[in-house]
Amino acid sequence: MAQIKNIGLFTSGGDAPGMNSAIRAVVRAALYYDINVTGIRRGYEGMINGDLFQMDRKSVSNIIQRGGTILKTARSESFRTKQGRQLAYDQLKKFNVDALIAIGGDGTFRGAKAFGDQFDIPVLGLPGTIDNDLMGTDFTIGYDTAINTVINAVDKIRDTAESHDRLFIVEVMGRDSGKIALRTGIASGAENIIIPESKTGLTNLFDRLEHGRKDKTSRIVIVAEGENEEGGAFEIGRRVKEKFPHYDTRVSILGHIQRGGKPTCMDRVLASRVGVAAVEALMAGYKGQMVGVINNKIAYTPFEHAIKHSTDIDPNLLKIVEMLSL
Ligand code: F6P
Repeated sequence: MAQIKNIGLFTSGGDAPGMNSAIRAVVRAALYYDINVTGIRRGYEGMINGDLFQMDRKSVSNIIQRGGTILKTARSESFRTKQGRQLAYDQLKKFNVDALIAIGGDGTFRGAKAFGDQFDIPVLGLPGTIDNDLMGTDFTIGYDTAINTVINAVDKIRDTAESHDRLFIVEVMGRDSGKIALRTGIASGAENIIIPESKTGLTNLFDRLEHGRKDKTSRIVIVAEGENEEGGAFEIGRRVKEKFPHYDTRVSILGHIQRGGKPTCMDRVLASRVGVAAVEALMAGYKGQMVGVINNKIAYTPFEHAIKHSTDIDPNLLKIVEMLSL
């Protein structure tokens, strides 16, 4: 096993709060073990274009609390091709990079897997996405911050819902995952949640509106964005208005505010733990894996498993939404 001398580090895909904490952890842990770190800007795009620079202790000063990613991020089309990956590899060789740590979600790890298969270079990944939809970690970096942002926003929307006796359909992020919607639905006391993993969301909502308590004047319904069978929040809002015209219904899309802001303590600690563990794992010869935390212990999961979209929704959590919103 060759000794690692220079780790290439990048963020890719959607930014997530806590990515900077992870960058800091990787850089500081590597320097602790006398390993250089080369920062790569804008993910795979920057790798292809040679946008690489040497990082030091100071390049990660005062970033643990900052949202976004100081390395910037992008989604790359060219990296999907063999030729694109060859260009990226040539750039890494120019900068003497002999290992990689990728911070991102499923798209990032798909690229990392293809790269590790094509070239003899160890690649590890850190789970950085607000969606919490990766296998091999209980939580992803950014998820805790995002769900706290959502409940703060929904608490505010509830003030208007209550004051005007309105029904609010609130759309939250999660490309094809209801993980954000499920937890924030519980934490914000939503009456219903509609998520892609459960096919009964809209029927339950209609049933509630028809047969549920009549003394409830305001309601919050949380809808996960993406491919809900019922369509997006606007379509759901349209159907509710059509069927229940006596409700004063509004749709509110929370959007990218969910991706920004200071990472929570949970996200900073998670990012710091997996960042250090990834450096140590590279030194120990690991490759082709995502470093996560399961049951409070560091866990390594091959990229091909990590990107299997996690659709396991805890039915007990769904039940809780139903029971507590009576
Ligand atoms: O994967 C993170 C995420 O925020 C998803 O929840 C969302 O569907 C997507 O990224 C939005 O991506 P973009 O910012 O590129 O529109």
